[in-house]
Amino acid sequence: MVMRRRGGGMVHYLRAVVVAVLMMATGLRAQLRVGFYDNSCPAAEIIVQQEVSKAVTANPGLAAGLLRLHFHDCFVRGCDASVLIDSTKGNTAEKDAGPNTSLRGFEVVDRIKARVEQACFGVVSCADILAFAARDSVALAGGNAYQVPAGRRDGSTSRASDTNGNLPPPTANVPQLTQMFASKGLTQKEMVILSGAHTIGSSHCSSFSSRLSRAATTAGQDPTMDPAYVAQLARQCPQGGDPLVAMDAVSPNAFDEGFFKGVMANRGLLSSDQALLGDKNTAVQVVTYANDPATFQNDFAAAMVKMGSVGVLTGSSGKIRANCRVA
Ligand code: HEM
Repeated sequence: MVMRRRGGGMVHYLRAVVVAVLMMATGLRAQLRVGFYDNSCPAAEIIVQQEVSKAVTANPGLAAGLLRLHFHDCFVRGCDASVLIDSTKGNTAEKDAGPNTSLRGFEVVDRIKARVEQACFGVVSCADILAFAARDSVALAGGNAYQVPAGRRDGSTSRASDTNGNLPPPTANVPQLTQMFASKGLTQKEMVILSGAHTIGSSHCSSFSSRLSRAATTAGQDPTMDPAYVAQLARQCPQGGDPLVAMDAVSPNAFDEGFFKGVMANRGLLSSDQALLGDKNTAVQVVTYANDPATFQNDFAAAMVKMGSVGVLTGSSGKIRANCRVA
């Protein structure tokens, strides 16, 4: 009897060891899964798709806005929807930090969340809504409709100061970009492909105007910028104002390999974009993507899934916020 109990204990122990080893081997990312809401809220992904589609039809620029929201969420405290939280009297939230003041699409997320809560109360996280909305935005603009592993939970903390050092500035060079992405567990290759997101959307002149003034003061041009492009941008960016300029001048609303074609032609808008051609490691990838649309689309989708797993809260960590704007 005693022997049998001992044997049973050993089996349980071994089973626990095997489970622990398996969990370590599959890593944290395994906690997110495709079809997470299939039983608990089957309408979730459909509602997101419908609302994103409505919003993007009315204003194509919102596809870029929603894609960037997901990126800025994931790079600060992980993909926990902290970027959506409003500032309060005692707290300046992430969204009011310098690099985030140009984010857009918050009201689309609010509309999605309201409908999702009506369909299934307290089930779907704001962080998952951002991940689905980014995918749907890419697809609506012409990219791949990849599957999004879900099961993220929402954080309750959002501090403007946490954006410092986590969101890459447009002046960053390749080693700096590589290091910032590496700190999120993303490779240099993933950094390059994810920069391809700049194939849609727009940028304020202030994000690249130092390149234009450098061109003007050296009486030549920024050697990494096509002179005709410098002239065009100088016309689009009058002194004293800060209008928006398309990041991919050729096809600003099409999710295509145009960004990489632009960089190859010295028409990358941000200094950080053009830098990808100036570094021999990243230049190879720029050329590959410019010439191979299918590889660009596939690699981008895979890198988005990876980015969407950065620092996620799962299981019993975090919570499901009822209102994405309120911690
Ligand atoms: C590689 C480092 C990156 C830097 C330095 C960077 C920087 C910027 C800057 C400065 C802007 C323009 C903001 C403005 O002036 O209004 C911008 C726009 C944008 N970024 Fe990035 N970004 C990077 C990576 C990414 C990634 C990884 C994504 C998404 C996966 C992304 C998506 C976007 C989109 C879609 C826009 C246009 C937003 C709109 O039209 O509302 N960026 N980015």
